[in-house]
Formats: sequence, structure tokens, C-alpha cells
Amino acid sequence: MDLGLSGRVAAITGATSGIGAACARALAQEGCEIVAADLRPAPAGQLPEGWLAVEADVASADGGRRVVDAALERFGRLDVLVACAGIYETGALDDVDADRWDQVMAVNLRGTFLCAQAAIAAMRPRGWGRVITLASIAARNGGRLAGPAYVASKAGVVGLTRSLAHAAGPHGITVNCVAPGVIDTPMTGVMGDAAKAQLAGGTPLRRNGRPEEVADVVAMLASERAGFVHGALVDVNGGLAMG
Ligand SMILES: NC(=O)c1ccc[n+]([C@@H]2O[C@H](COP(=O)([O-])OP(=O)(O)OC[C@H]3O[C@@H](n4cnc5c(N)ncnc54)[C@H](O)[C@@H]3O)[C@@H](O)[C@H]2O)c1
Repeated sequence: MDLGLSGRVAAITGATSGIGAACARALAQEGCEIVAADLRPAPAGQLPEGWLAVEADVASADGGRRVVDAALERFGRLDVLVACAGIYETGALDDVDADRWDQVMAVNLRGTFLCAQAAIAAMRPRGWGRVITLASIAARNGGRLAGPAYVASKAGVVGLTRSLAHAAGPHGITVNCVAPGVIDTPMTGVMGDAAKAQLAGGTPLRRNGRPEEVADVVAMLASERAGFVHGALVDVNGGLAMG
């Protein structure tokens, strides 16, 4: 199936690792120009030819603007944003102090907002765009291993996505949210093998997911084919949570 993405310009935050890296590969495979943004960008020479690496902290006030400006400067436009940068938190209730709470919120929620705000401003004049945010199954089930700041930040991303959908939809820009279950990436490495195996065992598919399985859904949402999917929350969780 041709997703109609050839020649589109896609910016992915958190593009150095895990799901973000897989999204960048999937969108490149569909013919997109790639802006790979991360706090720790891939060293020069290690990115595929033609990709633009951008060093940006999405939690900073100008992080989102830096990513979008880099896309505009190199490619003249931005069509797709995948806001994937995120940090995890496993704190027990009494262990999460104010600084850690603020840090998780700043990256996961404020960072997603600022990147989307800058991206939508750049997409609006062209009357076409795709914004895909990353929530988590934890926003729905309260998190089995994730702590309160992570859960709250991801629940915030769900609400934020719906607010953005109201604002951006009239301009031809769709905004959707993907909620992964347990995916094998460096982020879930901190859970430990035993806990991950237990989660896999409780999943109807009896396994955890691969980053590519999230990226394929993101690519579909970014495509022409998903033009009427808007404000949606799409689970990619192997059935770990349903309904
Ligand atoms: N892996 C999972 O099981 C899972 C499940 C649900 C949701 N998610 C979400 O998917 C997204 C990607 O997760 P992942 O598993 O690929 O994680 P990961 O840790 O493998 O990758 C996250 C990337 O984000 C980057 N990053 C962190 N803070 C940043 C900042 N301030 N500015 C810019 N970049 C920053 C990191 O450098 C890293 O490259 C996250 O938002 C995460 O919360 C993951």
C-alpha cells in the first residue's frame, strides 16, 4: 500500500533510541525527509545519508522551536511531527520529590506541547500536517511499574492531543496519539527481565512489542490514508489493556 508520504518532511523527537528511532526508519522507508531530533543526537556520520540530526532538549522553552526551525531551514517545510521524546519514572509514591515530578512533566508533557505548538504553526500555512504524540498504556491502567509522574504526564498527553486536535483540525492538520504497551527498548530495560516476562505472560499475545510495531502504526497515522483519523487514541499493546 502506498502511504503517499514520499517527499514529506518528518521531524521525530527522541529519534536516537527505541520507538523514535524506529519511527524515523519507517518514515524514511516511506520516502520522507527525516529530521532526527534528540537530547543526544546520533554522532555525525552515523545517521543515514540525507537525514538531519538536531540536538534539542524538548523540555527547554525553545526546544520545539529549534526542531521546527531546523526542518524549515534545511527542507523549507515541515509536514509530520512525531513527538516521541520521553523519560520514564518508576518511583514509589513517597520517593517522587518535586524536582523529579517537574522533570518528568517537563520532558513528557511540556515538551510534547511545545514541539506540537511550533510544528502546527509551521504546518498551518500549507493546510496539511500530521502530529502524532506518544502516550502510554500507563495513562489508562495507572501503570503497573511506572510511577505517578510518568502516569500523570502520559494522561496529560492524551488530553493535550485532543485539545490540539480541536485547534489544528480546521487547518487540515490531524493530531493523534499512540499508546504503546510494553515495548522492548532501552526505556523498558530498567524494568528488568523478570518483570518484563511477567507482563508479557499477562498479554493475550504472550509477548512484549517491538519498536517497529509502534512505528508502523505511526507511519500509517502520518499518511494520506489516515486523513479522517483525528483526535484518536490508538493502542499498540498486544491486548494488555482493551476497551
Ligand atoms: N518502550 C515502551 O514500552 C513505551 C511504552 C509506552 C510509551 N512509551 C513512550 O514512547 C516514547 C519513546 O520511548 P522509548 O521506549 O523509545 O524510550 P527510549 O528511552 O528508548 O528513547 C527515548 C529517547 O528520548 C530522548 N530524550 C529524552 N529526554 C529528552 C529531551 N529532554 N529532549 C529530547 N530528547 C529526549 C532520549 O535521548 C532517547 O533517545 C516515550 O515517550 C515513552 O514514554 C514507551
